[in-house]
Amino acid sequence: KNIRWDTVQAEKNGYKYFMLKEIFEQPRTIEDTFRGRIYSDEGRIYIEEVKLKEEYIKNMSNIYIVACGTSYHSGLVSKFLFESFAKIPAEVDIASEFRYRDVILDEKTLVVAISQSGETADTLAALRLAKSKGCQTLAVCNVVGSSISREAMHVIYTHCGPEIGVASTKAFTGQVTALYILALDWACKRKTLTIRELKKYLKELWEIPLKINKFLKNSQSVYDIAKVFANKRGFLYLGRHINYPVALEGALKIKEISYIHAEGYAAGEMKHGPIALIDKSMPIVAIVVKGKIYEKIISNIEEVKARGGTIIAVADQSDKEIGNKSDYVIYIPETDEFVSPLMTVIPLQLLAYYISVILGCDVDQPRNLAKSVTVE
Ligand code: G6P
Repeated sequence: KNIRWDTVQAEKNGYKYFMLKEIFEQPRTIEDTFRGRIYSDEGRIYIEEVKLKEEYIKNMSNIYIVACGTSYHSGLVSKFLFESFAKIPAEVDIASEFRYRDVILDEKTLVVAISQSGETADTLAALRLAKSKGCQTLAVCNVVGSSISREAMHVIYTHCGPEIGVASTKAFTGQVTALYILALDWACKRKTLTIRELKKYLKELWEIPLKINKFLKNSQSVYDIAKVFANKRGFLYLGRHINYPVALEGALKIKEISYIHAEGYAAGEMKHGPIALIDKSMPIVAIVVKGKIYEKIISNIEEVKARGGTIIAVADQSDKEIGNKSDYVIYIPETDEFVSPLMTVIPLQLLAYYISVILGCDVDQPRNLAKSVTVE
């Protein structure tokens, strides 16, 4: 008897959709991106491809990060890393905005272009503009040999393998990983972190794949929440500090694949507008990990509760308080706040995925969207 071998099914490796496969691949793809580049016991980082001179790294005046979509969100995360670790002023811009502004650039400015595909038209144009102004340029790309990786002076690859789902997942965590080790490497060269701090942050990254794996074993908890909220008309995502960009990314995921309106907001900005939207029918996903602004986000949650909103918190396992303050909690393994976006984004990707499946949407090929936007 002949067996019909469906190659697409085979590539999905038993998963119903590529997106789910790619979400579950992240422990490995994150590790593939840092393996061979970091040595946490010795506190050493070695990024072979990036040949920026040590002298340049010490003297660079600022970084401009340009990207689109999900890559823009990983850029926003990296701003915190470049500032806090390496003490380099960092700005992040949407590539289509950057290319039409009179940005002040010179040879001491490093322009970092982030792109999974390496083919996004606006990001490529932004990169060319930066080169024409005499800046050093660095690409963070997943596709080897892509236009952006070839045109940038330096490139660091994320080793995520092909990403098929239109909504980006593993590329985001790969980019954050690559940018995290770049920021640590430059911190080391600029002597803005002690060796002890450096080892600690490297160890935190090293432990992330295990922690994500642990969380993914319990993905049912996210599905249960998705069932409760799949029929809602809108979502608000709140985060602060380095998890503010993750709130934006969570909202983007749900818009992209479930066609539900969602907004990501910096929690402290809520009282300047979005709080007016809150009523009983509005679910609010809040990222509440331990760190510098923990108390602040807790008080933002209390403000939401006081107005009848339903809180779904993404919080550390060790958090004993959060259960009393929110309606639903998705517990995640505890991490240092600077590495936490790699962990906090996972439940948000899964939540969007499950809602999309429940609503019967085409998860891998959402309407009107393209994997790679090669025209302006
Ligand atoms: C499209 C994709 C997104 C992606 C964005 C940027 O909008 O649907 O998933 O984040 O392009 O793509 P890039 O390849 O430059 O990262």
